[in-house]
Amino acid sequence: MKIRFLGQNGFVFDFNGKTILVDPFISANPLAIDINIIDLNPDYILVTHGHQDHVLDVEQIAKANNSTVISNYEIVSWFGQKKISGHPMNHGGQWKFDFGTVKYVNAVHSSVLPDGTYGGNPGGFVIWDDNICFYIAGDTALTWDMKLIPVTCPTLDFAILPVGDNFTMGVDDAIICSDFIECNNIVGCHYDTFGFIEIDHMEAKEKFGLAGKTLHLLDVGQTMDI
Ligand code: NI
Ligand code: MN
Repeated sequence: MKIRFLGQNGFVFDFNGKTILVDPFISANPLAIDINIIDLNPDYILVTHGHQDHVLDVEQIAKANNSTVISNYEIVSWFGQKKISGHPMNHGGQWKFDFGTVKYVNAVHSSVLPDGTYGGNPGGFVIWDDNICFYIAGDTALTWDMKLIPVTCPTLDFAILPVGDNFTMGVDDAIICSDFIECNNIVGCHYDTFGFIEIDHMEAKEKFGLAGKTLHLLDVGQTMDI
């Protein structure tokens, strides 16, 4: 499986023949000027929560590709008013899609949509099929609830965790999170996009290394084989 980093919490990957996009924040991200949203063509768009740096390009991409938005009930309803199809979920619920199973899990953060509409409670996703299982934390603090992730998926292949601090976990808490979720293969996100979340890449990777873990910090546009 290949995943491509699109900046902030944006990723795109092909999973069982479907293209899945996560939290596209591309057109206003100066770090993502080389990403062309016309090329993404997702079947599904996963949205962790309602903040602008996660939903900005959802409408344009979904309308161009007839994509299905998977998110919490409130966010799916908001996009539904814009004539975008969606699959609503809420915390603790899982659903078997045609690409795999998705569970919407807790995140400790906030979630208002760009026009001020209530964005429900923020979340993350655990996604799996018979061969692979991974966790997309979304914007979140370190929380004890992360200990429940291995109950759903005892052997995570990788996890996408925020490491930028200030608005989410920073590196040190992300290392503790990786203990809670029992996963040593971490892809970082939510760093460098704004001044508040700039990180020292070398130091972050060294800290994970000292804990016996690997932190991947992809360049925007970079693809990684899992
Ligand atoms: Ni946020
Ligand atoms: Mn964010």
